[in-house]
Amino acid sequence: MSDDSSSSASAAAAGSDHGLQQQQQQQQQVQEQQQWQQQVEHVAFEDVSTAAFRIRDKIPRTALDKSHDGMVAMTGMEIWFKKDFLLQTGSFKERGARNALKLLSAEQRRNGVIAASAGNHALALAYHGNDLKIPVTVVMPIHAPLMKVAKCKNFGATVIIKGEHIGESKDVAMQIAKAHNLTYVNGYDHPHIIAGQGTMGVEILNEMENIDAVVVPIGGAGLIAGVALAIKTIRPEVMVIGVEPERAASYTAALKAGKPVPIEIGSTLADGLAVPCVGANAFHCARNRVDKVVTVSEKYIALAILRLVELEKVVVEGGGAAGLAACLQGLMPELRGKRVVVPLCGGNIDTTVLGRCIERGLAADGRLCRFMVVVSDRPGGIAKLAALLTELGVSIKDIFHERAWLESDVFSVQVRCVVETRDQEHAEILRQRLAERYPLVWGTLHDTNNALLL
Ligand SMILES: Cc1ncc(COP(=O)(O)O)c(C=O)c1O
Repeated sequence: MSDDSSSSASAAAAGSDHGLQQQQQQQQQVQEQQQWQQQVEHVAFEDVSTAAFRIRDKIPRTALDKSHDGMVAMTGMEIWFKKDFLLQTGSFKERGARNALKLLSAEQRRNGVIAASAGNHALALAYHGNDLKIPVTVVMPIHAPLMKVAKCKNFGATVIIKGEHIGESKDVAMQIAKAHNLTYVNGYDHPHIIAGQGTMGVEILNEMENIDAVVVPIGGAGLIAGVALAIKTIRPEVMVIGVEPERAASYTAALKAGKPVPIEIGSTLADGLAVPCVGANAFHCARNRVDKVVTVSEKYIALAILRLVELEKVVVEGGGAAGLAACLQGLMPELRGKRVVVPLCGGNIDTTVLGRCIERGLAADGRLCRFMVVVSDRPGGIAKLAALLTELGVSIKDIFHERAWLESDVFSVQVRCVVETRDQEHAEILRQRLAERYPLVWGTLHDTNNALLL
């Protein structure tokens, strides 16, 4: 046998080995998917409609208001905001929490419930547990917003701060549940939670007939599962679009894998959406009902928060603003000219984080700019720079100059500025005029990795 033929024979053998391996992998994947689907608990539309009846004693219908005209110009859509951030604890999570608590047995009520939550589910359980006289324990990750931690305590819940992220807090909560015979209420995957969240979809359709789409933020996927179940049962032609942060795209990962899979997540302004693995029941319920899922950048989440403050005069947290962020980022061109409902599903944001979001929103909008120029260190050098900024109508927020580290001419000084401009066009004029006169390094406050540029 020639060398050629022996190598082609071994290549063929390797090829068939590879083919066999691929086949085995595919079979394993199919088996895993079948196993996962067998374990899933199903939620039916009847569960949602009975939940709507069950929770209406304490959860009022929230407003569905047309947006400010400015939003139409910015997004090309007719946007209607469903204002669940106006509920007592500031989020839609009350819907599922009250439904789940009211469905507990007498013994479960006596022993109490436990949950892991970055905040909104914890708040909702704490508030309604207090109302229904059911003891509530919540485990919150160490980076949970301070405001949410404090409010949970005020509602009388036992709060345990443990876990780098919600996945770790969940492990702790499960152990405590077992040890103390508490009922664990998963904030996005318990069937009673999913049914409760679905009541938002029923309300939207009750209030408005002619809508084209609903754009729903995704964390563990309980909200989108319930809303999609309600909407596709009553009005299947209405599009349901999911939104998740680029840094916590666990639903997109689940779609790719064909089942929920844990992923590494980064920190995001939408802390409520930072869930490393979507719920199995929620994913099963949502995946054939949701038309499309998009991922939004941090920049547009910050911009959405800013737009909501400036145009709608409302304060909404990152997770609650994610739907609008997707509209602003232009991720759904098929919705141009359509009537779109965007739930503003949570308003619990720390005041310090709100401040940072507004600054980042201004930077993303080209209204807060940062640059460095080298000017003459002779008398009048900085005055000339200031005069140029005045002439252009640019307001100085911060100015700093230094000589020691400048390697060029000793009669030069480096000046770093943060300035306010009207819009991107105004910022571009400033950039051009500075570049005509000075050596210039130009940058907004942060690059895409949020590192300081200057
Ligand atoms: C404000 C806000 N919006 C949306 C969501 C997403 O809900 P789900 O985890 O059911 O996908 C959350 C989750 O906590 C949230 O806090």
